[in-house]
Parts: sequence; C-alpha cells; structure tokens
Amino acid sequence: MSHPIRRIAISTGGGDAPGLNAVIRSVVFAAEKRGWECFGIREGFNGILRPDRYPVDGITRLTMAQVDHIGHLGGTILGTTNHGNPLKFATTMPDGSVTETDRSGEIHAALKAMDINALVCIGGDGTLTIANVLHQQGMRVVGIPKTIDNDLDKTFTTFGFDTAVAFATECTDRLHSTASSHQRIMVVEVMGRYAGWIALHTGISANAHAILIPEIPYDIEKLTAHLIARDRAGHHYSIVIVAEGANPLGGERVLHEKAGAGYVERLGGIGENLAQELQRKTGKEARAVVLGHLLRGGSPSAFDRVSAMRFGAAAVRALNEGHSGIMVALAYPDVNYVALEEVAGRMKSVPLNGDIVQTARDLNICLGD
Ligand code: F6P
Repeated sequence: MSHPIRRIAISTGGGDAPGLNAVIRSVVFAAEKRGWECFGIREGFNGILRPDRYPVDGITRLTMAQVDHIGHLGGTILGTTNHGNPLKFATTMPDGSVTETDRSGEIHAALKAMDINALVCIGGDGTLTIANVLHQQGMRVVGIPKTIDNDLDKTFTTFGFDTAVAFATECTDRLHSTASSHQRIMVVEVMGRYAGWIALHTGISANAHAILIPEIPYDIEKLTAHLIARDRAGHHYSIVIVAEGANPLGGERVLHEKAGAGYVERLGGIGENLAQELQRKTGKEARAVVLGHLLRGGSPSAFDRVSAMRFGAAAVRALNEGHSGIMVALAYPDVNYVALEEVAGRMKSVPLNGDIVQTARDLNICLGD
C-alpha cells in the first residue's frame, strides 16, 4: 500500500443522484493537480465484469479537458447500476438457475493490470460496503457518500438529497392549487427506501398536512380523523406525503418487486393504495402522484454541487495523505474522514425525538401516530 499513487480509478455505483458528475470532475481535477492519471470504470464495476457489454473501454481514461463541462449535469457520465455487486454477482448456471458469485478478484486483477493503485467509490450503502471489502482485500480505497435518500450514517448529508427535496417541494407546491380547486386529497409518493428523510423534508418545506415515513408506522384511523377534522374546520383539501417505504401499523410495505439473485427489492405503490383507502374512508376524492425517478433527475442544486466537489477533492487529499478504507463525510463546517466499516451496512433513520420530527408536529402535520 505504500508505493506512490500514479493512477486512480473512479466508480459510480447504485442509483444515480444529482452531483455524481460534479464529484467526477472534482476528483479528476484534484488528481491531475498531483500528477496522477484518472480512469473511470463504466457502470459500477460492469466495465470490468461485463466484457460482453464493454469489450474495449470498460475502464476509460478521464482527463480534465473531458470533465471540465460536466459539473452541472445530472446522472453520471460513467453510467451506474444497482444490479452489479461484484461480491454477489448474478451468474446464470448451466441449468438456467441464477446464483450469486464473488467476483471481486477480477476487479483487483483488472486494476493491477493497468497499474491503477487506488480507487474512489462513489455510492450509497451497497457501494460503500463493496468499497470496504475491496479495502480489506488490500486495495487502496476511499468512499464518497451519495444518495438522494440521505440514509447514510456518519455524514451530515449526502449529495443528491437537497436536489431531490427541492424538486419534490416544487411538485408539491403545484399540487396545492389543483387539490384546493377540486377539494381533494392529494397523496404524493416519494422515494427514500427505508428512511423518511425525503418525505419529511418535502412535507415540511411544501406545507403538507400529513407525512408518513417508515420510521413511524401509520394508523389509518388517525390519519383519516386528521383529514376529516381539517375538512370540518373549512380546509377542504389536504396534501399527504408518503414515503415509498412507509407501512401501516401491523401491515406490510408495498413492493413493486421482491429481491432476487443480484438485486434488492423494489419499493413503490403505496401512494395509489393509500389514496383509494382515504377516498373510501373520508368520502372525499383522492388522487395519487408518484414522483419516483423524477427525484433522481435534473441538475444538482448549488448545495449538492458544492458538497460533491468538496467530497471529490477531499477523497483525493485523503488518498494523497495515505488513507484507505475511509469515507469522506460532511461534518460542518468541515469535511472529515470516517472508517468505511463504521458506515457499511448501517442505515441513518430519521430520529424520532429529533427537532425535524418535533417541527412537523408543531406545525400540526399528522405523522400517522
Ligand atoms: O436509493 C435511491 C433510490 O432512488 C431509492 O429511493 C429507490 O427505492 C431506489 O433507488 C429505486 O431504484 P431503481 O432505480 O432500481 O428503481
């Protein structure tokens, strides 16, 4: 691990988030400044593990000139995947069954063959868990926290979250007038997996009347009573924000698809179910809007761009200082380093006694409990 860095690789993994390109730009600039060459691995680690898809340029050279103009763009120029975990790679067996295989050895071999001796992994919990294992196997690795869900531990926030909440707020703002004109209940389903950060921040920011998050299983009777009380008090419309991972008291989460070999379960569908149930129970018309992947698109906000660029530069500084097995994290007013093993496999839920939940309650927002 002690020989000097000459070449580094960048990988973007998991669901895309606004700010990934800003990180790539920042890493490349900071690396070239130190005389290092940068490479990007295509589509998570598929640039190495899927030669059928990337016969020639699975690991591609990245220069300052190439990335100079990408900082404001959504998505990732490298591509990404949430089906390409090299530790549990979906492999079809001769009998047609699909099993999970550990192919991490091929990553070490491919990078070594190109004389690349450090890796920057940009991703959420899944990617950072992979990064931690690659580090434990002897690779020099620094992680960068990314996810619109904001559910990564040990960092104040992840880039992508601010942009997602800003857009969800704008969408919800627009629903107030139509909900009010029709005296309807509008249910807005937002992403966030098993954490309620996006729902809670959007709901507070966009003046919602109820917010349902995974951390607080909701009582449909209490939610119904809140909406009926609003109606009786002369407020004839309501906005309900529901996190895709929310679930009723004693009930199940709604899934689009169960987990299988090489992929995790897909949440979604609760918005429509809830709208139908609220219509039945309140006697008011209810409609559902699913914001879904719209929250992952578009240009990163200024906050997310700055966080992303700070993370990218800090990752290069960390490598230069000899660190490995760490994630750069936002710890106001600074960026600091935390051990990947303190982050991997740990989820940051909304704290129920924190001020953000208390704020929602003080604003008379029903949280379903
Ligand atoms: O983790 C980011 C995220 O957008 C989650 O909020 C959501 O559950 C998931 O990814 C959706 O993934 P996919 O792109 O596979 O539908």
